[in-house]
Amino acid sequence: MERFYVTTPIYYVNDVPHIGHAYTTVAADTLARWHRLNGREVRFLTGTDEHGQKVMRAAAKAGRTPQAHVDLLVENFKHLWTRLDCGWDDFIRTTEPRHTTVVRGFLQQLHDQGHIYANDYSGWYSTSAERFWSTEEVTPTGVDPAEVAAGRVPGVCPDTGQAVEWLTERNYFFRMSAFQDRLLAHIEANPGCIRPDMRRNEVLGFLRKPLGDLCISRPKARLSWGIPLPFDEDYVTYVWFDALTNYVSALGDQRDVWWPADLHIVGKDILTFHTVYWFTMLMALDLAPPKCVYAHGWWTVRKAKMSKSAGNMVDPHALIDRYGPDALRYFLLREIPFGGDGDYSPEAFLLRYNAELANDLGNLAHRSLSMAEKWLGGELPAATEPTDDDRAFLAVGKAATDSFRAQIEAYQFKQALEGLWEFVGAGNKYLDTQAPWSLAKKGDTARVGAVLRNALECVRIAASHLACICPQKSAVLLAKFGLAAPDLAVALDVLPAGARVAAGDPLFPRIEAEPEPEEPTMSETAAPAPVAPVPAPAADAPAFEPIDFADFAKIQLKVGKILAAERIPKADKLLKLSVDVGEATPRTILAGIAKAHTPESLVGTQVTVVCNLKPRVMRGIESQGMLLAAGGEDVAALVAPGIAIAPGTGVK
Ligand code: MSP
Repeated sequence: MERFYVTTPIYYVNDVPHIGHAYTTVAADTLARWHRLNGREVRFLTGTDEHGQKVMRAAAKAGRTPQAHVDLLVENFKHLWTRLDCGWDDFIRTTEPRHTTVVRGFLQQLHDQGHIYANDYSGWYSTSAERFWSTEEVTPTGVDPAEVAAGRVPGVCPDTGQAVEWLTERNYFFRMSAFQDRLLAHIEANPGCIRPDMRRNEVLGFLRKPLGDLCISRPKARLSWGIPLPFDEDYVTYVWFDALTNYVSALGDQRDVWWPADLHIVGKDILTFHTVYWFTMLMALDLAPPKCVYAHGWWTVRKAKMSKSAGNMVDPHALIDRYGPDALRYFLLREIPFGGDGDYSPEAFLLRYNAELANDLGNLAHRSLSMAEKWLGGELPAATEPTDDDRAFLAVGKAATDSFRAQIEAYQFKQALEGLWEFVGAGNKYLDTQAPWSLAKKGDTARVGAVLRNALECVRIAASHLACICPQKSAVLLAKFGLAAPDLAVALDVLPAGARVAAGDPLFPRIEAEPEPEEPTMSETAAPAPVAPVPAPAADAPAFEPIDFADFAKIQLKVGKILAAERIPKADKLLKLSVDVGEATPRTILAGIAKAHTPESLVGTQVTVVCNLKPRVMRGIESQGMLLAAGGEDVAALVAPGIAIAPGTGVK
């Protein structure tokens, strides 16, 4: 039996999963389902990357041991994958003994074979970030790196802004450089091993320069949450050496059966780790490199990088709650070509949902099933000799599904769905031109039966192919004509004569756009003419429960400076502000202060910004934070220097 072994990266366990993570896993699950549907034996591996400094720190902050901490966090991922119907065959965690044993075995083997040596490592060390940086990385903008190298200008940690120091440390190195020629030869002889082509070219470009050796250890004194080196317990292994090994360690005694993997799906950011580091590690270990590493692009949100600090991470759970898991899976794979970057916006999601799922597919299914209920008594007639129109319709189906198959197997999900939708569109057109309602009026019952049967075969074919992308809806749809499993056959005589069909509820009910609130809420509050004292709130203002400091600490408050302010057409309370909160780009914040402050008076004002409030879209603009403002029901004044506010006024 043909086999297919597909993997996702193992996710950093302390990250909160967002749509970028969901993207990789949904793509892998779709391929796993497709190959299973086609009778192949499949192994789908995902998991979590659980070692490292960040985890250790987060655990300490939460007052847990690192292990207890990761045991809790891993559930975030398992829970999301379960909700998204991503059915892994195996879930590997790097803290499991089955993994750590293999990592230590690999390290020992490389050490024994002379591929690992000890040496002094020097670099700019940041105590605050607990890592080394290169001279270029620690050079402040506008300064010549030579000045830093010569010690005339102090270097600065790019992560924390703290001073760095030149440090020399003894460490262990993997002789990666020794494998450069073999690696190049391998990639040239197997061009399909890094895809898309653009990514292979990037790696080849990288390999034009001499490859260095790889530092694979960290002193335990600095980092204890890792896998100790078997030949020197004072050190733990570098997290990427640990993490990459998961693809093999998870196979246990099945390594000979499943290795090399058919496909590692990764984001473009971790391409070098998966091609240069991993391929050379495998070569040194006498193991074959994976057959293909496919690097997909990155999701942005309204063209902005998704990040915790920007507070714009798109929560897959919220999308599942509103649209269901299948719609999210569909959107992710349909919206952008696999390999390229793409942009998320709630409008783009809603548009695809309503146009393609609710309208194109949902309507085709609903109208053909409803008509079959109405004119065929809910019972399918036997297939009849197809007419020329029927044959032409079937030919569209053949072309569409051939393309679907070829594109999915080339990991081109968007194109696969586009192809399938040609057939869905043809199904709707077929109904329009064959007009079974007119045939029914004329009393041509036999042709009504044939037309509806053909339309339903089209629905069956589309639903069966969609089983890998929208598994729940596919099953619901197939059940409407009594099918318990997908049937990929592209023919008009598959559904059994006499089968009962029922329309039931619409498959993807239309969803209206969320109304954009005119009334500013917490996230856009603010206020009045500078210097006008405002009355204190009424004595019967609601009492608040005392909170712990830990609760307060959840709110990320930062000083911001208003760089620009403008009115928003037709919104009499809202102003659109551009606020510098010390990040790479200023934030856009909508504030309900237009009645109290003119835009001109605000520029240059220093304000307090709640930075980690969930972004919210109003009037088609995403507000990325909230200004602290005083007042009760109506905002009375910005809490800012030079603006007088009566003591006791509430702030929100
Ligand atoms: N732990 C490493 C992987 C080790 S694999 C041996 C890691 N983890 S991660 O959680 O940061 O990222 C996992 C995957 O999520 C990567 O493929 C990454 O590209 C992907 N994404 C993270 N943010 C993303 C977007 N905004 N868009 C698309 N994918 C993104 O790296």
